[in-house]
Amino acid sequence: MKQKGIDNFSGKRVWVIGASSGIGEACTQALLRAGAKLALSSRRVDRLNTLAASAALNQALVVPIDVTNPAQLEAGYEQILQAWGGIDLLLFVSGVYVPLRADNFDIKVVQETIDANLLGPMRAVALVLPEMLKAHTGHIAIVGSVAGYSGLPKALAYGPSKAAIINFCETLYYDLLPQGLSVHMISPGFVATEATAQNDFEMPALISAKEAATEILAGIQKGEFDIHFPKRFSGFLKFLRILPYPVYFWIVRRFVKI
Ligand SMILES: NC(=O)c1ccc[n+]([C@@H]2O[C@H](COP(=O)([O-])OP(=O)(O)OC[C@H]3O[C@@H](n4cnc5c(N)ncnc54)[C@H](OP(=O)(O)O)[C@@H]3O)[C@@H](O)[C@H]2O)c1
Repeated sequence: MKQKGIDNFSGKRVWVIGASSGIGEACTQALLRAGAKLALSSRRVDRLNTLAASAALNQALVVPIDVTNPAQLEAGYEQILQAWGGIDLLLFVSGVYVPLRADNFDIKVVQETIDANLLGPMRAVALVLPEMLKAHTGHIAIVGSVAGYSGLPKALAYGPSKAAIINFCETLYYDLLPQGLSVHMISPGFVATEATAQNDFEMPALISAKEAATEILAGIQKGEFDIHFPKRFSGFLKFLRILPYPVYFWIVRRFVKI
């Protein structure tokens, strides 16, 4: 049994969480061009308003939310239900990255990262699932990261938050496939955005946010569960994780400035 894709985004109701910059903004722009109806969420309302201003009449809704605030998420989804009666695709892109190493391991950073990157998507999924299950149709797409494949340096909070997204998507897939719902687990490599602008090292196989959006939407169209890119980098990391630990650690130490 194969899960469904979305042949044509025209007229589809998409809730993009994390629409204000980077990968989410690029997905929003591509979906607007494809004629989808967009509910745009994140905290920076001015940016969401600018994006909505570029949309056709009644094509975009601005739904400001902080994903760490359950009441805002609930009110945001209620606003969408009032306007559209439901959604066809939840595209959860929002996320935070704070480099963290053992010598400054800070539990506050860990809590904030898990809250935004793991509990945030779980809260959104909890909201949209009842209507999707009732309708026996719908798509849940969550942006994780190749950093969730296996441990990498400087990611003591980010890595675990993204590893858990992989497990969450895999586990959701078992339950949702028989119900006619699709899960899309999205694992980008390095993408040039505000988040990676802080990196002080050369990022291998770096792609633009526009290229990332093209990969994401093509994967959703095809009904793919595992959407990872660019393949020359994500494929290499997938290979690394099946190696024995001593070999894996040796290779990572060689390639990454630790
Ligand atoms: N760039 C990469 O190389 C890369 C690689 C792998 C995975 N990723 C993942 O891709 C996703 C997008 O990252 P990006 O690189 O495009 O970064 P970005 O440009 O910094 O975008 C992050 C987005 O998340 C939103 N956001 C952050 N915290 C939020 C919160 N508490 N509530 C609501 N929205 C929140 C931001 O909006 P506001 O600030 O307006 O709230 C913004 O729209 C993240 O999940 C990231 O982990 C990125």
